Amino acid sequence: MKVAVIGGGSSYTPELIEGFILRAGQMKVDEIALVDIAAGKTKLKIIGELAKRMLKKKGLSTKVTITFDRVAAITDADFVLTQFRVGGLDARANDERIPLKYRVIGQETTGPGGFAKALRTIPVMLEICREMEAYAPDAWLINFTNPAGMVTEAVHQFTNVKAIGLCNVPINMQQMTADILEVKREEVNMRFAGLNHLVYGTSVHVKGKDQLDVLIKRIAAGKNMNMKNIYDAPWEETFLQALRALPCPYHRYYYMMDDMLEEELKTSREKGTRAEQVKKIEQALFMTYRDPALDIKPLELADRGGSLYSEAAVSLIASIVNNDHAIHTVNVPNNGTITQLPDDVVVEVTCMVNREGPQPLQIGKLPTACIGLIQQVKAFEQLTIEAAVKGDTQKAYLALVANPFVPSSKVAKALLEELLEINRPYLPQFELKKQASSV
Ligand code: G6P
Repeated sequence: MKVAVIGGGSSYTPELIEGFILRAGQMKVDEIALVDIAAGKTKLKIIGELAKRMLKKKGLSTKVTITFDRVAAITDADFVLTQFRVGGLDARANDERIPLKYRVIGQETTGPGGFAKALRTIPVMLEICREMEAYAPDAWLINFTNPAGMVTEAVHQFTNVKAIGLCNVPINMQQMTADILEVKREEVNMRFAGLNHLVYGTSVHVKGKDQLDVLIKRIAAGKNMNMKNIYDAPWEETFLQALRALPCPYHRYYYMMDDMLEEELKTSREKGTRAEQVKKIEQALFMTYRDPALDIKPLELADRGGSLYSEAAVSLIASIVNNDHAIHTVNVPNNGTITQLPDDVVVEVTCMVNREGPQPLQIGKLPTACIGLIQQVKAFEQLTIEAAVKGDTQKAYLALVANPFVPSSKVAKALLEELLEINRPYLPQFELKKQASSV
């Protein structure tokens, strides 16, 4: 079995390697090919050496290859994992800072920030998929690259690659639910439905008993249901009880937009945006990773928002390899799962996974309170994907107008101009379109 990791020099790779080590008894991985771009050479080398030490410590014979040749890494892979960031953390910092100038939420995966990230990322992902179609046509693509929902939807709509979008939010919500209810994660039976970073827990059972009300009460009383990268604005009990579903940590940006915005403005002045903070965490992480005596995943990685990523990714791969029919919440084409949404859009839903891939568990209709927001954000996503693929400025403008964070078409226009300009090196599709229309 060969696994290719695109964006292999990411600080999250040791997390992934740990996942393969923990599941070594369930599947044998012959080769892990870590690939990155030349600009990431130093990081890739450090990560590659650490990965080798981690595997050696456990006596595993998995070969770790380090390469800048993406086609070589992809060729004959069984699984291609994508975790790259076009433009690096500098581009993310722009995504987070520019909206704040307009008193709009600045976030890497949602709102105008997620929009800019999608424009940069989708064309690169489609290139990778063309290579997969040619050199690893049977491989599964496991996409962790953000905005994971939009990126996965673009892959399904424009390529023949078998793709699954993955996020660590549902598995973290399940883990936090287990902690709150004081049971093991495996004992919590949860159903999720929605979009990536806009997913709701729709039911919670432990040993067959409905625990949603207990959970809501405890969260409203202050129990933790959040990720490291998000400000922990407290949920109101009246709201959670009225909604009768469990919002994900990212829902705070929609339902508590005023508080979240004020906090972002304050933190960006005092400590920097999340990307600016992550840059410092990364520097320290890579110093630690360099240590030739280090042969385990360092604890400091827990300061990042990506906890349990490896568990989500590697257990998903194991379910496909071993045909174990286990339950995972992943991003897949809707195909009637949520009846109020079109078939060809990607949704984040609970699935049974076997060797054929994820089989969504039927949802039917979502409550009006949830589906209203989901449909609006899905419209934003569809317009963004079309803009990203075609370099279409009008669609890009309409995408921003449709986004719930953007207060007016005037602000959308100003934001669009600024985001397109600053990202120009990463948006050849818009330049080509401009040239074509001026001919
Ligand atoms: C969460 C999200 C991921 C995101 C991460 C960012 O876990 O689910 O999609 O990449 O946070 O964490 P960071 O530490 O980079 O801010």
